[in-house]
Amino acid sequence: MIEIIPNWHPVLVHFTIALLTIAALLFLAAAFAGRNRAVHGIETTANWNLWLGAGLTVLTVAAGLQAAGSVTHDDAAHLAMDNHKFWALGTTVLFLLVALWNAWRVRRGHSVGVAFTLAMVIALAGLTATGLRGADLVYRHGLGVMALPQQVADGGHDHESGAEHSHAETDATEGGHAPAVANTPKPISQSRLSPAEAEVVAALTAYHAALTSGDAAAPEAFVLADERFLMIEGKHFNQGWTDYRDNHLKAELADLAKVRFRLSILGIQVDGDLATVSFMFNVLPKSGPEMDFGGGRASASLVRAGDGWKLQQLHTS
Ligand code: HEM
Repeated sequence: MIEIIPNWHPVLVHFTIALLTIAALLFLAAAFAGRNRAVHGIETTANWNLWLGAGLTVLTVAAGLQAAGSVTHDDAAHLAMDNHKFWALGTTVLFLLVALWNAWRVRRGHSVGVAFTLAMVIALAGLTATGLRGADLVYRHGLGVMALPQQVADGGHDHESGAEHSHAETDATEGGHAPAVANTPKPISQSRLSPAEAEVVAALTAYHAALTSGDAAAPEAFVLADERFLMIEGKHFNQGWTDYRDNHLKAELADLAKVRFRLSILGIQVDGDLATVSFMFNVLPKSGPEMDFGGGRASASLVRAGDGWKLQQLHTS
């Protein structure tokens, strides 16, 4: 696979969209032109665009299904992906039927009729809806994207030219980049942590590493594995370790086994046997090129037990 392409689906979609859109538009032109001999070439071109487009769409769908099973995604993206799949499969069936109908029509020497043109227009509407939903997966949910601008994490970047500005500070007003989040603290470097803070961070990091081990029991060593454990992930809420492990973690275990977490600590406080940490996390592949699959912000509270710090609460968004 070419390094920056997550899978073949984004390559194949362009053939599907271009060939089938051109086919629909040319059939419309042919329908309006009626039996005019001058447009015979238009109809022939439309035929081949439709047949090639329909054939390649079978590959596009196969690549889409493979992509859906391999890209890292959250719950919101999962719903969006199901919706995209629903439209894609419906549209594909429609185009395949229309392609067969067209072959039958050509063999019989029938002209492009109103019903056939209408079917093409409906299929084109389905294709547009599918494409928009696919784009939504990439541009809104960030599926298959290697890296996002790190302006929140490092406060934007300064130009070397000496201009005293960063995109994070200025471009929001210029309509350039997305507005930066004001007052986002900078990550604390490992060397500036006290020994107690370093212990807490090590426990939190070990917990995240255990999440990606492929074994649902592995993180148990780093949590309060009873009813006191609380997990809030976006809109999801799990009370108790068993609830989180069985009703949440297990479903994500296979996806998590392909990635690793990078934590950036934004704030930490240790007060006796209680510690609170706020941090950002990035999801990266375990091996291969350094792709950033996304991430989020989180806050955690940990308590000191006989055998080290244990995660009691985790809230991610
Ligand atoms: C008619 C068939 C289909 C069309 C026209 C289509 C179209 C698209 C488009 C335009 C994108 C955005 C690509 C980009 O901006 O680079 C996309 C992305 C995506 N589509 Fe589809 N799609 C089709 C079928 C499917 C199916 C059946 C699935 C299975 C769930 C699927 C899953 C995905 C996924 C996961 C992405 C995110 C990018 C990636 O990892 O490839 N697609 N699709």
